[in-house]
Amino acid sequence: MTSQQLVDNGRITAVERSIFSSSQWLSYFENNWKNKARPALPEKIALADNVRQPIIRSLQRFQIGESGDGAYLKKFAAASNDPIYEQCIDLFVKEENTHAAILAQMISGLDGQLITWHWSNLLFTNLRRMVGLKTELFVLLIAEIIGKCFYKVCADNLENRAMKDTFTAIVMDEIFHLEFHSTFMRKAMHNYSHTARRLVYFGWYALFFGACVVFIADHRAALKALKVTPTAFFKDCMGTFDHAAAKSLL
Ligand SMILES: [Fe+2]
Ligand SMILES: [Fe+2]
Repeated sequence: MTSQQLVDNGRITAVERSIFSSSQWLSYFENNWKNKARPALPEKIALADNVRQPIIRSLQRFQIGESGDGAYLKKFAAASNDPIYEQCIDLFVKEENTHAAILAQMISGLDGQLITWHWSNLLFTNLRRMVGLKTELFVLLIAEIIGKCFYKVCADNLENRAMKDTFTAIVMDEIFHLEFHSTFMRKAMHNYSHTARRLVYFGWYALFFGACVVFIADHRAALKALKVTPTAFFKDCMGTFDHAAAKSLL
């Protein structure tokens, strides 16, 4: 068993990487909720016009995705008979809602408007609700991986300092979300045969591949404004998927 130590706001949180422990993740989420420093955003955010419009368009979509109430995820978590895991899921949803609030603040600072629905969010939400907790998490992980990669590109390539710092903080949260869900999946899939896990992998991979291609087509203007080629973004997403899949299913 190995552990990673995260220095967060002067505090050290140890997170076991291989074995899922609800109580350890609860400590992580509680600590992150109480102590994480969120960089301040100015009321008005300056970006070049050719970057501002496509970034607003992409952030509007992410803002909807981050603002869900997690009702189905909470319902499935309640059926897991692990009250501590339920608390983790509550805090996870609260953390995602914090991201939604930050993105809303950014959109407003960029003189953009919030949108109330987008087809990609409806599609993901309905796919996730189809079967149960595992399906919910496999589909959720697809959105988490693509989101983490997009926020990382924003953190690396935007020229506005406040936006860079804010996206860097969000990326750190998302990295731990991937770890949280992947290690949970590893535990949940533990009793499945090697063949069953291979089949799940191929189904998950096909879904991820398709989602990634659709995402890149829909967000090509923002990727171009951020000076990232579709191929480079696709490679980054696939690399992150491979990592999460190895953690979840091997
Ligand atoms: Fe998020
Ligand atoms: Fe997340």
